[in-house]
Amino acid sequence: MSEAFVTPGEATLSAGQYDDMVRSAHSQTEAFWLQQSRRLTWQTPPSQASRSDFLNDVRIDWYADGFLNASENCLDRHVATHPDKTALIWEGQDDGQREVLSYRVLHARVCRLANVLRRLGVKKGDCVAIHLPMVAEGIIAMLACARIGAIHVVLFGGFSAEGLAERLTDSAAVVVLTADVARRGDKRIPSKTTMDDAITRCGAASRVRHVLVVPVTGVSVPMQAGRDLRYEDEVAREAEECPAERMNAQDPLFLLYTSGSTGRPKGLVHSTGGYLTWAAFTHAVVFDHKADDIFWCTADTSWITGHTYVVYGPLANGGTIVVYEGLPSWPEPGRWWDVIDRNGVTVFYTSPTVVRAAMREDDTVVRSRSLKSLRILGTVGEPISPEAWHWFHDEVGKGRCAVVDTWWQTETGGVMITAAAGCVVPRPGAASRPLPGVEAVLLDAQGTEITGAGEGLLCMARSWPGQAMSIWQDHDRFRQTYFTTCPGYYFTGDGARREEDGYYWITGRVDDVVNVSGHRIGTAEIEDAVATDHEVVESAAVGIPHDLKGQGLVVFVVPREQGVFDPEAVNRAIAAGVGRYAVPEKIYVVRDLPKTRSGKIVRRLLRKIAAHDLEGLGDLSTLADPEIVDELIATVKAQE
Ligand code: PRX
Repeated sequence: MSEAFVTPGEATLSAGQYDDMVRSAHSQTEAFWLQQSRRLTWQTPPSQASRSDFLNDVRIDWYADGFLNASENCLDRHVATHPDKTALIWEGQDDGQREVLSYRVLHARVCRLANVLRRLGVKKGDCVAIHLPMVAEGIIAMLACARIGAIHVVLFGGFSAEGLAERLTDSAAVVVLTADVARRGDKRIPSKTTMDDAITRCGAASRVRHVLVVPVTGVSVPMQAGRDLRYEDEVAREAEECPAERMNAQDPLFLLYTSGSTGRPKGLVHSTGGYLTWAAFTHAVVFDHKADDIFWCTADTSWITGHTYVVYGPLANGGTIVVYEGLPSWPEPGRWWDVIDRNGVTVFYTSPTVVRAAMREDDTVVRSRSLKSLRILGTVGEPISPEAWHWFHDEVGKGRCAVVDTWWQTETGGVMITAAAGCVVPRPGAASRPLPGVEAVLLDAQGTEITGAGEGLLCMARSWPGQAMSIWQDHDRFRQTYFTTCPGYYFTGDGARREEDGYYWITGRVDDVVNVSGHRIGTAEIEDAVATDHEVVESAAVGIPHDLKGQGLVVFVVPREQGVFDPEAVNRAIAAGVGRYAVPEKIYVVRDLPKTRSGKIVRRLLRKIAAHDLEGLGDLSTLADPEIVDELIATVKAQE
């Protein structure tokens, strides 16, 4: 194995070297992953790679005798070699708001905040919640937590107070960072007052001692004496140096909540050593990282993509990142293309939803921009259709950029299946090939591995460094969710098709998770929120194909009293329980739901009826009331 494989930020792999990597990762797994861990700087280098076990109690175990600090890896070692290199370019959504932070300056700002957190009594292993829009302080806060060994929990700005409260309680966060008011185009999001409401809802379960308020819009917000502190006053009091905590590779770096098919959101726990190795490795290999790249991943930091490819991957590799606060087409179409041109972005990583929305605009919008700095384009979060892939390639990439569709999940920490730029020939619409060390398999309904071409459940036969270690405070749920469907394998929840030559096409979730614009929404969460309306007897949420969003959410509601029920109440319940982002496309008020004789809702039928796809409804004889199907079809038609 060549040392060239582990040079951070420099190596451009040839297709042949990449294939060698795939082979070594498969046959000399332990040595390969130890070598990859050398992308990082360790206080004590690990002597072993993995002792993971998918059976029994399930153990995800990487680099267990190694010690390191993630913020030192993202900052100090680059300050030592190139302090004046730009680490972060921030642009606000209003004209002229721009800030360029060198590694030296980013390091200083992270240290100041880390010192504040220490002064406020945050200890190694405590959780700190970060509820900020796309401002530099969001990234600074993540790295400041990492510096002192606090576990960060980044919370999406679109969650309702109830959604925030649930996550604050589960994580037992002791400090929260929030904005005064966030901006989203011409909308204003009352971050601080929503957070106040969330903490109140936690009641006695709240462990929040302090709320640090970052002045994003600069408006005045209510401050609770003793608890709430102004970010800028606090950091001004602190020194620009802060010793980094010595962390074991297996110590959690962060929790990130995501939706599953059942129950409340799960706080997935990512490790310090394995996760960071995976972030650095995948960022370098998938995006062919070069030292002078300007890397723009457009994801919000509250999603895993933002963690791994806004923050940890590019900064661990000493790269330059762009962070833009605003929307793609506000205040005018083509705004993001201007961000690319103004900053000389070389790698642009976004979602198929953004590509589809841009395709709908007049092509003169994209054609009037240069975009000549671009070298690599990427997408993530949902399948990209061949049509959208070609448009992205031809119009944004002007036919000369590599386009990488990347398949992965919150649980995987980083990219798993892709056509790594320059190494694997992409096939538009296909996720393409597993990365080195990713032992993807397809299983049939009996749990048997499918060989060659075929379609089945997408599983992983072996652990990889970026794999989440557990669900916060609920390891048994982790085991049950991911390791019992196909014993001995990690089950992704996705189905996939594989071609004879090993290319994967993702066919979508096989569980009750809906992917709206790349946001994962558990139908159970929606139904739980709807159930808080006492006028509702029961409900079922399903996903249907949506031109722009990939999937849209539709909710069938059975009210206590037909005729007097106001469907708007369902929207209100979802906005309050989950957040406005989860409000459905359509609500159908129905008399009953299709159920089997044992009372199980037949979602397959609801999905087809909602999508007006009435071909092949299948065998209806197992339904308790087969007549309900025609009635539902008629109701849906009448309520269009
Ligand atoms: O169904 C897959 C879909 O998004 C799910 C993971 O969602 P989340 O944990 O929120 O992470 C999204 C960003 C990594 C997967 O189970 N998905 C993600 N990427 C793709 C995809 N489906 C098809 N193609 C992709 N490239």
